[in-house]
Amino acid sequence: MDGKNRVETMVSGYRDAMILVAALKTGIFDALGAGARTPGQLAAGLALDERAVDILVHALAASGILIKNGEAFGLDPAVAPYLLADSPDTMASLLGHNVRMMHSWLQLPETLRTGEAAPRAKTTPEQLRDFICGMENVSRQSSQEVAEKVDLSGATKLLDLGGGPATAAITFCRAHGNLKAVVFDLEGPVGIGAEQIAAAGLQDRISTQAGDFHTDDYGAGFDVVYISNVIHMLSEVETQGIFRRSWACLKPGGQILVKDFYLEDNRLEPAFAAQFSVNMLAMTAGGKSYTLTETLDLLRNTGFGGLSTIAVAKGSQVVCGYRES
Ligand SMILES: C[S@@+](CC[C@H](N)C(=O)[O-])C[C@H]1O[C@@H](n2cnc3c(N)ncnc32)[C@H](O)[C@@H]1O
Repeated sequence: MDGKNRVETMVSGYRDAMILVAALKTGIFDALGAGARTPGQLAAGLALDERAVDILVHALAASGILIKNGEAFGLDPAVAPYLLADSPDTMASLLGHNVRMMHSWLQLPETLRTGEAAPRAKTTPEQLRDFICGMENVSRQSSQEVAEKVDLSGATKLLDLGGGPATAAITFCRAHGNLKAVVFDLEGPVGIGAEQIAAAGLQDRISTQAGDFHTDDYGAGFDVVYISNVIHMLSEVETQGIFRRSWACLKPGGQILVKDFYLEDNRLEPAFAAQFSVNMLAMTAGGKSYTLTETLDLLRNTGFGGLSTIAVAKGSQVVCGYRES
């Protein structure tokens, strides 16, 4: 792609995102989950404007999300599982969460001037649900891969710190019958996590603990502390703080597992993590995509030993360490 095309592609990227989100939020994808529809049928069924729907579904078909057959439009079966709200592979919450983040991205020039994320309006219950359930969409596959690649067979008590939708706790407890877990998160998110735990029928093995991981007690006697996609929200000082608290709540010999979208030391690769770091700049006070080296150093400074890394799904890695004494 020549220079002009690269710039044009980057500058219009938001259009594809907003076309997807508009179709999702107005119920067009779910309506098409029941079968192909004309723009008129969609507009009538969803109380939308027919001309507007007609333009949108043609754009969706042009980009391969929908398939046009005569006057009717259907979902491409390859993308349908990710766009339908009730599919086990849905990414619907994540799409919703991305819209909320766009408000912060629009303020990015100001953030570059001030160094501070733009102030945000109070989170609505729907936005909180999109965020926490969106994290389930992100962590579903990587939690499964961690369960397959990390030996948790000897563990009986795991802390899922900042565990949000409880995806990891549920996945790990399903994989290991002897394991019990505590999902620690802020009050609103643990309520959503508790719903997921109940839906999985694991209330007898997974409990929730509402608290602030910067200030509140984590408990004691854990074999494993799992921290997934949390440190990218935090400054290095805050990350060091939760590592210290994690060390303190582990049994001697216990393990810390820190999963995130890590950068190589050149901070260019993977490109997704370099771009994601801007997301955290726009959204948080001190967050970023950490390099593996930075994370290993912070763990070493906390007193963790036996450090290693494991690659898991979609550019994520797990940094592992042990409380040795
Ligand atoms: C990006 S999400 C990751 C959720 C989950 N670990 C996963 O991988 O899907 C970060 C989580 O940290 C939680 N969190 C943020 N600040 C927190 C705090 N001060 N105390 C406890 N949890 C916090 C959020 O509510 C959210 O659930």
